[in-house]
Amino acid sequence: MVKAIIYNSQTGHTKQYAEMLSKKLEIPYYELKEAKSRINKNDNIIYLSWICAGKIMKVNKVSRYNVISYGVVGAFPEDENYINNLVTTNGLEKEKVFYLRGGINFIKLKGVNKLIVKIVGKVLEKNNKDNEELLKIFNEGASFVEEKNLEKMIDYIKQEE
Ligand SMILES: Cc1cc2nc3c(=O)[nH]c(=O)nc-3n(C[C@H](O)[C@H](O)[C@H](O)COP(=O)(O)O)c2cc1C
Repeated sequence: MVKAIIYNSQTGHTKQYAEMLSKKLEIPYYELKEAKSRINKNDNIIYLSWICAGKIMKVNKVSRYNVISYGVVGAFPEDENYINNLVTTNGLEKEKVFYLRGGINFIKLKGVNKLIVKIVGKVLEKNNKDNEELLKIFNEGASFVEEKNLEKMIDYIKQEE
C-alpha cells in the first residue's frame, strides 16, 4: 500500500503532476520539506522531482523511505538513451523510473537557475537552428504537463500494489 506522494518542485510542473497523481491514486501528496513530519521511515512512497543538469533533485533525501516509483520531470523530449543515463547517473532501478515531461516557466524561474536556462537557450540556438520546438521552449518557455504522461507510471504502481 502506497502511503503518499512526496514531491520536490521549483517552478510548479512537478507539483502539478503530484496533484494529478494524488487524485488518480487517491493518496495524499506532500512537499519534501513536510514529508518527515507526515511519513514514517520505510513507508511506501512515490517520489516526484525535477531534473537539474542530469541529476534528480534531492533524491538522496527519500532514501529513508521505500520508494515504489520515481517520476522525474524534465524539459527535454522523452528519449530512451536520455532516461537510461538518468537511471545510471542517479543509481536507480530502471523499471521504477518514469519520465514526465515538464517545461520551462520563466516567470517562476529565479536567480542563477534563470541565468543557466538562458545560457542553455543560447547554446541550443547555435547548435539546433532547425529545431523550432526546442528553441521556443528555451527562449519563451512552455509546459508539456499532461495527465496522459502519467499513464505508464500509474499502471506500474497499481501492478506493484
Ligand atoms: C538549472 C537547470 C537545469 C536543468 N537541467 C535539466 C536537465 O538536465 N534535463 C532536463 O530535461 N531538464 C532540465 N531542466 C529543466 C527542468 O527540469 C524543468 O524546467 C522542470 O519542468 C522543472 O520542474 P518544476 O517546475 O517542478 O521545478 C533544468 C532546469 C534548470 C533551471
